Amino acid sequence: MATSEPVRARHVAIIMDGNGRWAKKRHLPRALGHQRGVDAVRRVVRGARELGVEALTLYAFSTENWRRPEEEISDLMGLMKRFILSDLDEFAAAGVRLKIIGDYKAFRPDVVELVEGAVARTADNSGTTLAVALNYGAQDEIARAAIKAAAKGAITPDTIAAELDTADLPPLDLLIRTSGEVRLSNFLLWQAAYAELLFTDVLWPDFSVDHLRDALEMFANRDRRYGGR
Ligand code: IPE
Ligand code: IPE
Ligand code: MG
Repeated sequence: MATSEPVRARHVAIIMDGNGRWAKKRHLPRALGHQRGVDAVRRVVRGARELGVEALTLYAFSTENWRRPEEEISDLMGLMKRFILSDLDEFAAAGVRLKIIGDYKAFRPDVVELVEGAVARTADNSGTTLAVALNYGAQDEIARAAIKAAAKGAITPDTIAAELDTADLPPLDLLIRTSGEVRLSNFLLWQAAYAELLFTDVLWPDFSVDHLRDALEMFANRDRRYGGR
């Protein structure tokens, strides 16, 4: 369907990349880059809420990130835990619903327990949905969805879509990747079919609400044709 009306992005996803390079540029430890990355998450979740984004999906840990040194993986888990402990009250009070996509149960039991508690606590909230991708890989997601669809009797684009981890979210409108890399790194491959893509050189720890606002404005002016004319 052709439209030239400015439209609001309902579902925005972000590949939060560049924490390591942000730290390296400053001769700081990588872990500090990840820490500043968490500050950016906090800003962007608040901003998305204020800007009326219905769903924000953030790529926090990929199925391929297990290839990183154990120390870095452990730093990331620790940061996730601390983030939930420090910020859950604020998000819960603001009506944010936390959702996890990906096979998060492969994480450490203490992380799984904390994450599940946070999801349960915000389950009835009706404000912005914050979907965090943990041990997420789109190929894994699609394979899991196809198995479920097959078990129910039919594999079609619709039956697969209905079993994806994001099935309860609005269609993906805008996919942003920071840090200058121009690839999807196994993120939301199915959902990105007709999403608008935005690649920016900004490193994730530097990503601000103004960057998000600019991205939403850019989105509003794009002409999505979905194969029509
Ligand atoms: C993104 O930053 C965070 C995660 C993948 C968890 P990186 O750690 O990938 O940072 P760069 O790409 O090395 O700069
Ligand atoms: C993608 O970033 C994963 C996350 C942001 C969680 P990576 O840094 O892992 O991606 P590659 O390795 O550069 O493709
Ligand atoms: Mg990276």
